[in-house]
Amino acid sequence: MASLLMTPLLPVMASVENPGLLPSPPMGFNNWARFECDLNETLFTETADSMLNRGLLDAGYNRLNLDDCWMQTSRAANGSLQWNSTLFPNGIPWLANYVQERGFHLGIYEDAGNATCGGYPGSFQHEEQDAETFANWGIDYLKLDGCNVYAEDGRPLRDEYHSLYSKWHTILNEMSQPLIFSESAPAYFCTNETDWMRVMDWIPFNGDLARHSDDILVYSGEGSAWESIMANYEFQIQLVRYQQPGYYNDPDFLIPDHPGLTEDEKKSHFALWASFGAPLIISAYIPDLPEEVITFLKNKDLITVDQDPLAEQAALVTRNADFDVLTRSLANGDRLLTVLNRGNKTAKITIPVAQLGLDSGCQYRARDLWTGAVETFKHSVEITLDSHATIVYRITPPRGCTKTTPTGMIFNTASGKCLTASSTVTFKACDAIDSQVWSVSGSGSQLTLSPLSDNSKCLAAKDGSISLVECGTGSGTIWSHFLTGHLKSDDGCLTDSSGASLGSCDQSVAGQIMGLPSGVQLAAGIA
Ligand code: GLA
Repeated sequence: MASLLMTPLLPVMASVENPGLLPSPPMGFNNWARFECDLNETLFTETADSMLNRGLLDAGYNRLNLDDCWMQTSRAANGSLQWNSTLFPNGIPWLANYVQERGFHLGIYEDAGNATCGGYPGSFQHEEQDAETFANWGIDYLKLDGCNVYAEDGRPLRDEYHSLYSKWHTILNEMSQPLIFSESAPAYFCTNETDWMRVMDWIPFNGDLARHSDDILVYSGEGSAWESIMANYEFQIQLVRYQQPGYYNDPDFLIPDHPGLTEDEKKSHFALWASFGAPLIISAYIPDLPEEVITFLKNKDLITVDQDPLAEQAALVTRNADFDVLTRSLANGDRLLTVLNRGNKTAKITIPVAQLGLDSGCQYRARDLWTGAVETFKHSVEITLDSHATIVYRITPPRGCTKTTPTGMIFNTASGKCLTASSTVTFKACDAIDSQVWSVSGSGSQLTLSPLSDNSKCLAAKDGSISLVECGTGSGTIWSHFLTGHLKSDDGCLTDSSGASLGSCDQSVAGQIMGLPSGVQLAAGIA
């Protein structure tokens, strides 16, 4: 069997091993999507004041992050970065102090390469000096972008990113007060599934959050803001297994004053990001946000979900032409149900509670996190949703019904196709049917996988092919799931290639990268 060639996944110092630095995803403000390079001191002081007065700080939004274009076009004679003193007449240390006095933290933007995306000096070969400068200015959060990074000696570009971001990780970790480290490296690889995943494989060990995909549409940008949100959502749903306390997948800013979004779309954006346990960084002109927008951004129940200490990311349970159904567990044993109507008209869906990894025989209490209304679910729940709206339920099991099983789609993240237990096991377009919903039992390298359509059957790798057999009746039904996305049996890796097959485990085969339900415990090492 071909072995996987990759950098070992054993971290020396790791953010996921030091979750205390950022125990829950960051919340706050960044100027970029709303103002791009049009930033200055007044914008930041006004924003801090407004976030304080409008209750956003109290709700948890405690960071103000400067994005690109804050600096002068060249370094000082001693090599130091310098702020643009026209934009920041009192200086960045003064601004850090201003926001800190009001209870916020100040964050900053730099770039791992020769220049930032906006053309300002990059940190390449100035890493120690810049880290020290930021700390001296009172900054405790760094978004490190990845424009203008070049590979030397013909080595793969992803190796260059790995070495630059590792260098930063080491420098930051050796500081007495390490800066929170937001890594943009994966965003530079998201057009090639296998390169993207290879970059993702080291990301959680190297920083606290990572921008993994395209920029969310900026205020002045052309195109559909909703499509841009949905594009980043599509990337995010492929990365469930990487997130854990101390590391968060970042699908980019909330843009609640974008004129191209409807009220439902703005609320969906927030509810989906909260369901993911994603960073909630608002890029909007906060003093002018209408009260109803401030109110939903402060939704305590959804923020509690976002900040849940288990840090699971909601994963797809089912998907069809209209609906996405997602679930995850919460630290107190509750289960989340998030439903998005992606379609263009009001539609109805019935969701059996068994699809959520719950027991059909139990009666569950469910709270609608938008309205606060409490309902009971037994067997199934019926939901009617307007186009582009999202509903989120927090489901509390009664005593005796607290067991949940990771349950949901198993899909190839490259093709988006669902593993389907029809007469033969195959990969097909996802259609919200029970034969595409799998319960995953066991942990680590001892997983068994059963379709909801027939839970006496288990997925088996036998005689070089994939089939379903009676559970517990023989070999081939034990699987391991790895951080790399591989689902491996003794005979090889599940592969989506015109149907479901078994292949030699290989990181360069996009058809072997699988998305599984959230809560599946990964096997150590690589496939
Ligand atoms: C990249 C990033 C954006 C923003 C700009 C600044 O495009 O992805 O979030 O930081 O650079 O130039």
